[in-house]
Amino acid sequence: MCGIVGVLGHHEVSPMIVEALGRLEYRGYDSAGIATVNAARQLDRRRAVGKLVNLSDLLVHDPLPGKAGIGHTRWATHGAPTVSNAHPHKSGPVAVVHNGIIENFRELRADLAAKGKEFFTETDTETIAVLAETFLDQGLSPRDAAEQTIARLHGAFALCFLFDGQDDLLICARKGSPLAIGHGEGEVFVGSDAIALAPLTDRITYLNEGDWAVLTRNSVEIMDSQGRRANREMRIVQIDTSRIEKGGHRHFMAKEIAEQPTVIAEALQNYLSSDGKSLNMPAALPDFAKVDRMVMVACGTAFYACLTAKYWFEQLAGLPVEVDVASEYRYREPPVTKGTVAVFVSQSGETADTLAALRYCTGKADTVLSVVNVAESSIARESALALPILAGVEIGVASTKAFTCQLTVLALMALKAASDRGRLSDGELATRLAAVRALPGMLNQALDRGTEIADISRRLAEARDVLFLGRGPLYPIALEGALKLKEISYIHAEGYASGELKHGPIALIDRDVPVIVFAPRDALFDKTVSNMQEVMARQGKVLLVTDALGAEQAGEGTWKTVTMPDIDPFLAPILYALPAQMIAYHTAVAKGTDVDQPRNLAKSVTVE
Ligand code: F6R
Repeated sequence: MCGIVGVLGHHEVSPMIVEALGRLEYRGYDSAGIATVNAARQLDRRRAVGKLVNLSDLLVHDPLPGKAGIGHTRWATHGAPTVSNAHPHKSGPVAVVHNGIIENFRELRADLAAKGKEFFTETDTETIAVLAETFLDQGLSPRDAAEQTIARLHGAFALCFLFDGQDDLLICARKGSPLAIGHGEGEVFVGSDAIALAPLTDRITYLNEGDWAVLTRNSVEIMDSQGRRANREMRIVQIDTSRIEKGGHRHFMAKEIAEQPTVIAEALQNYLSSDGKSLNMPAALPDFAKVDRMVMVACGTAFYACLTAKYWFEQLAGLPVEVDVASEYRYREPPVTKGTVAVFVSQSGETADTLAALRYCTGKADTVLSVVNVAESSIARESALALPILAGVEIGVASTKAFTCQLTVLALMALKAASDRGRLSDGELATRLAAVRALPGMLNQALDRGTEIADISRRLAEARDVLFLGRGPLYPIALEGALKLKEISYIHAEGYASGELKHGPIALIDRDVPVIVFAPRDALFDKTVSNMQEVMARQGKVLLVTDALGAEQAGEGTWKTVTMPDIDPFLAPILYALPAQMIAYHTAVAKGTDVDQPRNLAKSVTVE
């Protein structure tokens, strides 16, 4: 949440910073701002409310010269999205951009106010600038003032300072929120992630937890949390920048939905043998025959991937699985017994609650492993083993391809567990893997339903409430369908296990509430169809998503039926995620909402 950029360059940095902020806008888009030190070594700033384009427009009319600068795109935590609350925050000769939350800002602010300092914003960030200014007032150098300031901050943050009179100095720090330093030729960059810096440099140093750094154009000095000089590896991080463009699609979400057959095929290549007939999982994965139970923890869509995987691990491998949302798990003090494998699933790998839950399990569980998209993320780096899902950069705030890639990796892990535990013969495993290899082709066929789903979605866009139903491993897909629809179309939507309907939610059914039912022709089909009939008996408007046989047997009397290709029931959740995503996408497009950057949301949730 919130994106940070810093540049000490050869040329005017404002355009460069605005461009880099564009690549970080997925982290927040409530307001944006930049500060520079110009040729006269004066600190100045420009800030604008709303999307980055508003800041760009402002800079056209009121340019900000300077070859040293910092920039920020905000997801508001403390204080409304107003110009005065927008970063960079400035106090006298100090400007700062910040991602995260300063938990002791009230105490600091009260202390500073008592000493006569004035505050002009509602933010926690302003306290950082004011505090640094007081240290400068005492005669400390910018470096010492920054060090003293950082030492007094509690909470999770990443920040970057710029100082009046200093056109060759940036000081940045990381505690709880990621921060990367990019090395150029006589230039240096700071970014919340390597994506922000991708076109500027591929030479990246990630700061470790508690690190802070003093940067000039020709030197990078990193200190650890004890103030000792620290050597941090510089890596080459190549990011295919075409993957951060829309590639002819109207929205990133549309592109990312369409990419799923390709990225899943790539993930399969990584996790299957070259002939595709056996698993090629990392040797460091535990022998599941020796595992007693699994705990899976995540947030949002990644949590639904865990819920789906629970069915697979329990049914195929006979392994008990507990699944929890990270924000609850981290404070519940759950016992983690020996023989437990703890699994953390996250697209960004930076979700604060998931990271905290991982830290809670470290040292308690036998194995701590993560399933992540961003390989360099904190969650990946703090796990004993990180399985990459290889979805490529996901920009749309609503997760799509990361979800199905998470499911794919978890499905393969469940097959390995079943095999380790003697619940799947080699022959049965080979049959399952043949179905897995056919998955990208099936997903392509599901994408072919796009036009039909777009037509239906134009009608769904008129609804005030929508219910999603599923049973067994399709229940988490109903939850995911509802989450996707509400987050991007702002239509109220709920997902239910179809058997739960008559325990309350059926009271909502009338002809104005569309009910979307995910029901492939599997062992539970008849049960789900009975629940669907109960809806239709109350004039409910049913959209049935099923396969050809399901449509033949239960399609009569529905409002609409969408037919998916036949698939091994084990893989149905991955396939049925696509119509769920397409329904949400086309409904949002029909409503004219901001699909890639829905209100109030950010892609990377680094605050709790
Ligand atoms: C919904 C969505 C969120 C994320 C959640 C966890 O479309 O994207 O619910 O799934 O914020 O994020 P990660 O996976 O980055 O931990």
